[in-house]
Amino acid sequence: MDSRNPDIIGAPLDRTDGRLKVTGGVRYASEINVPNLVYGVIVNSTISAGSVAGMDTKAAEGSPGVLVVFTPFNMPKLPKQSSMGAGATPAAKKLALLQEPDVNYFLQPIGVVVADTLERATHAASLIKVTYDEKKPLTDLVAHLHEAFSPGQIGGSDKKPADSSENAPTAALHSAPRRVEQIYQTPIENHNPLEPHATIASWDGDRLTVFDATQGIFTTRQRLAGLFGLHDENVRVICHYVGGGFGSKGPVWAHTMLAAMCAKEVKRPVKIALTRAQMFNNTGSRAHTHQSFGVGADDSGKITGIVHDVTNNTSTFDEFPEQATVATRMLYACDSIQTTQRLVRLNLGTPSYMRAPGEAPGTFALECAMDELARELKMDPVELRLKNYAETDPEKKVPFSSKGLRECYQRAAEKFGWDKYKASPDPRSIRDGKWLVGYGMATATYPTNRSQSSASACINADGTALVLAGTQDLGTGTWTVMAQVSAGTLGLPMNKVRFELGDSVLPKTPVSGGSQTAASTGSAVQAACGAVLQKLIAMAVADASSPLHNADPKDVTAANGRLSLAGDPSKGESYAAILTRAGVPRLEVKSESAPDKEEKKKFSMHAFGAQFCEVRVHEDSGEIRIARWVGAFDIGKRLNEKTANSQIKGGVVFGIGMALMEKTVADDRDARLVNPNLAEYHIPVNADVPEIDVIFVDTEDAHINPLGVKGVGEIGIVGVPAAIANAVYHATGVRVRELPLTPDKLLVGAA
Ligand code: MOS
Repeated sequence: MDSRNPDIIGAPLDRTDGRLKVTGGVRYASEINVPNLVYGVIVNSTISAGSVAGMDTKAAEGSPGVLVVFTPFNMPKLPKQSSMGAGATPAAKKLALLQEPDVNYFLQPIGVVVADTLERATHAASLIKVTYDEKKPLTDLVAHLHEAFSPGQIGGSDKKPADSSENAPTAALHSAPRRVEQIYQTPIENHNPLEPHATIASWDGDRLTVFDATQGIFTTRQRLAGLFGLHDENVRVICHYVGGGFGSKGPVWAHTMLAAMCAKEVKRPVKIALTRAQMFNNTGSRAHTHQSFGVGADDSGKITGIVHDVTNNTSTFDEFPEQATVATRMLYACDSIQTTQRLVRLNLGTPSYMRAPGEAPGTFALECAMDELARELKMDPVELRLKNYAETDPEKKVPFSSKGLRECYQRAAEKFGWDKYKASPDPRSIRDGKWLVGYGMATATYPTNRSQSSASACINADGTALVLAGTQDLGTGTWTVMAQVSAGTLGLPMNKVRFELGDSVLPKTPVSGGSQTAASTGSAVQAACGAVLQKLIAMAVADASSPLHNADPKDVTAANGRLSLAGDPSKGESYAAILTRAGVPRLEVKSESAPDKEEKKKFSMHAFGAQFCEVRVHEDSGEIRIARWVGAFDIGKRLNEKTANSQIKGGVVFGIGMALMEKTVADDRDARLVNPNLAEYHIPVNADVPEIDVIFVDTEDAHINPLGVKGVGEIGIVGVPAAIANAVYHATGVRVRELPLTPDKLLVGAA
């Protein structure tokens, strides 16, 4: 492998952890061998509202191997500020830590049994008899819309007001000659990563070590330190591999805290691994969104007004606005836009971030409404989007740092063969025997996020390098792309660079959420590697014995473990030679990297994409098959062409699940979850997924971050459900505005 910088950063290399993963060599949090380990099993409520009146734990306590049984009646009390009320930010959830007997949702933790084996703990937990004072739960979002309240703000770190309104949007909408006003809904969904959540906690005096399946080792550290009143340094969180997170492992949840609380009491390491069912309601879900969407246009298709009012469920004790209006505020050029966000309290677990939170459900409404408006105008839907292409961000009123969306539309349309749609746009106009064929498209967008991060880089006298950053790889390829950024920046081949992550003793990094890891930690890794290389160059030019002595550092280039003069490559020497001669065993630099506040003010920073699909709907059964997928994306620079491509494909597959299958069902009568398992909560399997053709549009962006990356983890799902719903309309003439698009919704008869 050639090691010149541009060739390694971006190269479609195999994952550095790939072999270990497929040969079973990877150890996930719940698989770490910790001596003296005991097992915690959480007891979950069987009601959704009320309180625990009593728990008969005698049989459980006497059961073989049981060390302790905790209930709301004997759990050690936490200091008030660190118990449920800790939720200061949307990521810091209020948690059920057995501090009070209240029950707010089905499957809420109401007890923990710790025993010497998992089986004994599970059995003992089954012996506990619980009595409740039961209340009638709040179960249905739509039935309680009149009780909706404003959360005040939406968004994670980039807080926005819950409402936005400029230039009388309602009047603009209602005076528009062409308009669409409809209600769109997306259901509660659960993340279902392959690896269920798990934590092993162990104490050594007042030092706590935790192996956790998490998207944020430092967030976990912070919350645990807060819970026990410890300094951050006294809590160590380790997470080398994650089997998927999709947002569910972003916040810290009750089981992590409970494992640490139990371990403190029994004075032995405690593991709590959630079952699939326990993840439902307890590790966040995508909220049910009820979206009233209106868009008005003049006869030429120019949008004159948009009104988007979103209400989603939150729990009875915490608030989570699903920020479904954020894309509406920035995607199309229009100076009269109103958006509102409201919450309704239900007896369900607190919702949370799920892949493209906000954009995924929000663009279902926006991009279906755009399709409906195109129909109203008898206009090509791509044309309508180009007609309303935003050159500046309508909300922030600043230009985009770069925007390759026009090229995304054009290249995806061309590859897909959108001309076939244009030749036959009428519903039910294309068929293949019993299969009705339809084509649909939608726009994708996701903000480019970046947070402060840090990394350290070290060049050793043997010519190898070690690069460290806390961070975590939730399966996205962080191990690999950070090694690529390191090798590329250091001018070393991949096999001379070791990159390490997943431990809170390493340099501090942000949560892997909001598609920000490449931009944040990638920039920190690049900065550290660049700085240590400069240090090496400075050493060489100052060294009278070096062939580079007195050279201008700017004229020195680094490649393949060698520094040389740009104009005369024969003049140079290896990194090892420089350090060995100087008797320096290693050169090390630690760097911080933070977003540029001025650039953030001057530019709106987003990734963009265009999703095109062909669906086939069976005329008799309503079965929907996705036949073809083409997506083109402007995600800035790619750090690894292969893992970036995989991220998009994963996002599209996730979107197919969202469009056709996924729905967490709470019983209307008692708010008990009906399908907390993978037998009844359906996700796509290989047979549901067509070939996915991913096109990357090359954009240069000098403003977002030094690497020029926009983030790729979430944009792949955005627009997928709308593209499918639009294609299904084209195929059948039935407009489905409520996800998922199950066959029953198509059997109402064609328009
Ligand atoms: Mo992502 S849902 O912000 O982890």
